[in-house]
Amino acid sequence: MRVLSGIQPTGPIHWGNYFGAIRQYIDLQDNEQAFYFIANLHALNTVRDRTKLQQYTFDVAIDLLALGLDPNKATLFVQSDVPEVSELCWLLMTGAPMGLLERCVAYKDKKAKGLKADAGLFAYPVLQAADILAYDSDLVPVGADQVQHIEVCRDLAGSFNHEFGNVFVLPKAHVLDASARVPGTDGEKMSKSYNNTLLVFEDAKAQRKQIMRIVTDSRPMDQPKEPAGDVLYDLLSLVATDADREAMAAMYRRGGFGYGEVKKALADAAEKFWAEPRARRAELAAKPDFVRQVLGDGGAAARKKAAEVLKRAQDACGVSGW
Ligand code: TRP
Repeated sequence: MRVLSGIQPTGPIHWGNYFGAIRQYIDLQDNEQAFYFIANLHALNTVRDRTKLQQYTFDVAIDLLALGLDPNKATLFVQSDVPEVSELCWLLMTGAPMGLLERCVAYKDKKAKGLKADAGLFAYPVLQAADILAYDSDLVPVGADQVQHIEVCRDLAGSFNHEFGNVFVLPKAHVLDASARVPGTDGEKMSKSYNNTLLVFEDAKAQRKQIMRIVTDSRPMDQPKEPAGDVLYDLLSLVATDADREAMAAMYRRGGFGYGEVKKALADAAEKFWAEPRARRAELAAKPDFVRQVLGDGGAAARKKAAEVLKRAQDACGVSGW
């Protein structure tokens, strides 16, 4: 099965990004034919600073490689390195009903807030459909918030096929497991927009300080507490070994502990958990040419496939061979 997903380069990745999505993408590389790309054209909707967009794009590539994405197993590339996708986007745009796009949440939310939306945001799901269809993708691993976009993709592909013949493979959404609770430092869901993130590629000392500052409740030291649902415990569960997690849960239930100890245990576990990717990231950052080579090779492989699918679509609708 061909698995494909895109990651927007909008800034440094946090624990929520890793446990909610990236780790699961990387796991899929072992048994499926995986295509992962950095969605810089989508990010251009929000990142309007040239240097930042370039930096974020390259950084995501390094991050993914440091976290275990293996370029010998998966194809990693940058969205804009495959111009065929933008051409395919236009073909799909000509048959995309206004009403369908008006119902898409990203656009609807912005409108509802009274913000001015541009055509790029409105057509965002069409570009996403082109991303998916260009590689004959079977399965698209995404968070629950993206399922609507996969439905739009299926709709657009279905009507194109209906009008012009069997051109596109209809993809299925593979909804990522969101059962790992990743709270932010304020107890809300970890999210860049809430300003409560713990970054994956953070200096261990700086992260320790940030953990020590997490605000906790005023439970007296001697009182027991249910571990699940507690910010510190939930964060610890993500990065600790099973044995350490169980020992911590037992300590919560017994009582007679202070949050200072838990914070220290969390900072220790985090430092251990991230040590290897952080070291690997430093190595990769020192070899930018290697990273460029990976993206170059990935882009070439992706382009080859996209050109084949674009040709099929062009032939079917008559924008070639006149
Ligand atoms: N819209 C996705 C997000 O914000 C990113 C994305 C762009 C994507 N194109 C894609 C995801 C194609 C899956 C398939 O997360």
